[in-house]
Amino acid sequence: MSAPVAIVTGGAGGLGQAIASTLLADGFRVALLDRRGAREAAGRLGESATGITADVTDETAVRAALDEVEATWGRIDALVNNAGIEPQHSLEELDPATWRATLEVNLTGPALLIKHCVPRWRRQGGGRVVSIGSRVWLGGGATGSYSASKAGLVGLTREACRELGPLGVTVNVVAPSFVRTPLNAEKGDAGFVEAYARRFAAASPLGRLVEPADIAGAVAFLLSDRARAITGEVLHVTAGTQLAPFIP
Ligand SMILES: NC(=O)c1ccc[n+]([C@@H]2O[C@H](COP(=O)([O-])OP(=O)(O)OC[C@H]3O[C@@H](n4cnc5c(N)ncnc54)[C@H](O)[C@@H]3O)[C@@H](O)[C@H]2O)c1
Repeated sequence: MSAPVAIVTGGAGGLGQAIASTLLADGFRVALLDRRGAREAAGRLGESATGITADVTDETAVRAALDEVEATWGRIDALVNNAGIEPQHSLEELDPATWRATLEVNLTGPALLIKHCVPRWRRQGGGRVVSIGSRVWLGGGATGSYSASKAGLVGLTREACRELGPLGVTVNVVAPSFVRTPLNAEKGDAGFVEAYARRFAAASPLGRLVEPADIAGAVAFLLSDRARAITGEVLHVTAGTQLAPFIP
């Protein structure tokens, strides 16, 4: 069989780049799908990577992106729903547009990607989905819109696991804690982000932060044949901080 093909949304971002690199090392061909920077990011990864500019909330663009991948490589084996945003807001001052935008990118996007992969997986006889959630789906610690979107992703995963299992598709969530990426750099100045990172390391039973490669390794495992009997699962990659009380 030719090399399997994975789509990584948000592929130009911090975790997306790490996930794509690991999947390439595992023998995948990888299509990075991002609203910006996808082609440049793919260019840095070599000829088994391709970049497609698309917004995951735009169904027409999603369908066209998947068509492009299939036309190029003939198949789609795995979908990594990684694109995400985390606008900062309080609930008291919530702008409904911010709420909708967060849910659109973090939850509607993955649903649209799954929807348009299904007919291809029906033809191919199986497929894999891993969506990047967050530890905050359990106990919060971010913002209302973000935590709601990540909890929703677990609901979507469990429904997809039931609906798509008979097609041979596994569907899981990898739930990280704090990882140094541009997403967190936007939360405040360097001092604020460092203090935040230190609180996470202190709350970890392992006394460490999670790195992008840790998330990528978990995704690669769930996409591998070793994980063929795992579906509907949430794999926390948090250095144990999913057990920690609220981290302020
Ligand atoms: N970094 C962390 O601490 C952390 C923790 C838990 C979960 N996560 C999740 O991991 C995922 C990746 O985050 P990251 O830390 O790499 O952030 P990042 O900001 O580095 O990357 C996110 C990528 O998503 C892309 N994106 C955003 N909206 C998009 C859209 N509408 N269509 C297509 N692409 C879009 C961005 O352009 C960016 O390249 C996100 O889902 C995030 O919620 C991150």
